[in-house]
Amino acid sequence: MSEKKMPKLRSAEWFGTQDKNGFMYRSWMKNQGIPDHEFQGKPIIGICNTWSELTPCNAHFRQLAEYVKRGILEAGGFPVEFPVFSSGESNLRPTAMLTRNLASMDVEESIRGNPMDAVVLLVGCDKTTPALLMGAASVDLPTIVVSGGPMLNGKLNGKDIGSGTAVWQLHEQMKAGTITLHQFMSAESGMSRSAGTCNTMGTASTMACMAEALGTSLPHNAAIPAVDSRRYVLAHMSGIRIVEMVREDLRLSKILTREAFENAIRVNAAIGGSTNAVIHLKAIAGRIGVPLALEDWTRIGRGTPTIVDLMPSGRYLMEEFYYAGGLPGAIRRLGEGGLLPHPDAPTVNGNSLWANCAEAPVYDDEVIRKLDQPLLADGGICILRGNLAPNGAVLKPSAATPALMQHTGKAVVFEDFDHYKARIVDPELEVDASSILVMKNCGPKGYPGMAEVGNMGLPPKLLAQGVTDMVRISDARMSGTAYGTVVLHVAPEAMAGGPLGIVRDGDTITLDCAGGILNLHVSDAEIAERLAARAKTLPSGPKSGYQQLYIEHVLQADEGCDFDFLVGSRGSAVPKHSH
Ligand code: FES
Ligand code: MG
Repeated sequence: MSEKKMPKLRSAEWFGTQDKNGFMYRSWMKNQGIPDHEFQGKPIIGICNTWSELTPCNAHFRQLAEYVKRGILEAGGFPVEFPVFSSGESNLRPTAMLTRNLASMDVEESIRGNPMDAVVLLVGCDKTTPALLMGAASVDLPTIVVSGGPMLNGKLNGKDIGSGTAVWQLHEQMKAGTITLHQFMSAESGMSRSAGTCNTMGTASTMACMAEALGTSLPHNAAIPAVDSRRYVLAHMSGIRIVEMVREDLRLSKILTREAFENAIRVNAAIGGSTNAVIHLKAIAGRIGVPLALEDWTRIGRGTPTIVDLMPSGRYLMEEFYYAGGLPGAIRRLGEGGLLPHPDAPTVNGNSLWANCAEAPVYDDEVIRKLDQPLLADGGICILRGNLAPNGAVLKPSAATPALMQHTGKAVVFEDFDHYKARIVDPELEVDASSILVMKNCGPKGYPGMAEVGNMGLPPKLLAQGVTDMVRISDARMSGTAYGTVVLHVAPEAMAGGPLGIVRDGDTITLDCAGGILNLHVSDAEIAERLAARAKTLPSGPKSGYQQLYIEHVLQADEGCDFDFLVGSRGSAVPKHSH
């Protein structure tokens, strides 16, 4: 443990005075049975908990918090656990993304307004990781991330199945008539058989890897299974470490530098990470004041091989990833190939990212592949621009079909998700394997909340013919567990007046991933004419409630979908007392 003297504590502004204010702050806390000496200059460590039985991926977090507390107590700190809004991916309608920013506001105000010197973020399910990092970044105390860890491998008929990914696959098989409804339903319990987050390289695992690559967690935080006792050891050690971070004044802004984000972008390509990371990293960077552009994903990420062979892009699941060496093993491979842009970037344990990973063993070259035997030679997220997406769109190459990544085809257009669901099953629908499915009004304002509906299932009649992939384009997101040649995050979105809104059945579209192009073959004059006509028909949003706030203030996908008024750090100072 570091011998450094404890600096003047922020919590002393609450608990450190012998006057009316100090009386009030201490006295009500003492109703929990806290003795006087706990208020005598110990670092107060917040444990920001997204536990909820409605966020099943985080349902084991009360237990996890107990282990963090053990570490904090051992290191001489005092733990205070508090709940924040928990955005659970599987239950929340219309989409958990709608409440990511709401949760981040809760986190920011809870941390700033309360007596704490540092904070441990307990995160797991997709949106909880970015929401807590966004909120914490806007306050900028010493901060450490402890993730809940992935579920054990799913099992069906003696074989491994992956969270989410198996749902998409089995559903398509059922629509194609190759499995029965009974077989489809029988996968439910075997797919989710332990505590934890999705066990594929979906958004939760991706964001856990991003948190580790950014340096905000201890090594191996991303991959240790939720039920592995080593997850609880890591929670305990994180509790010890956060107290030392108060001594060192190791704030989040010293970790979340531009260099850290560049490392994370490279790591995302290596792990075949979710497209959602593009949105979440931008939002987190915005809160801490680090400039990050869509083109950074091209400049830094492209050319990076995908070496982590996990579903949905590859074969294995998070359990194997941990047993094979976890993220430190994958980062070591990148670094030894000269592909880690900033080895010296600091991390929360006081070491550089490279010092944490340089000697990390890799136990299985099938799961963490060698750089010269990658799953995909160029796994960086593809950023597209063109007259169909003036402010950008994304595609995940490791989840796509190479032959479709350069493709020109005729659009089959759906006005929104309901229109898609009604029309896609129509046996008369004019569509073939070369068509491009285009869906509008599923963006941040349009859905609202930019739901994960961009991986539109294929027309059943084509599935029955054996078609397995088609180009799909929308302003939606897609689950990190999904796959296909799917263009997402088209900006500006249709509901914000973007050109996606004026595509018509039969228009020709070109997708050129190598060139980074997404073009609609309609003349500029006609595009202008259609846009002007459409502008008159755009509906106004709700006139009350959270959805009004959301639609009026949400930024577009290329800006990270944060609220315009939340961008930036507002620090931890609260000059006024409450009474
Ligand atoms: Fe929570 Fe996938 S639904 S992590
Ligand atoms: Mg998801």
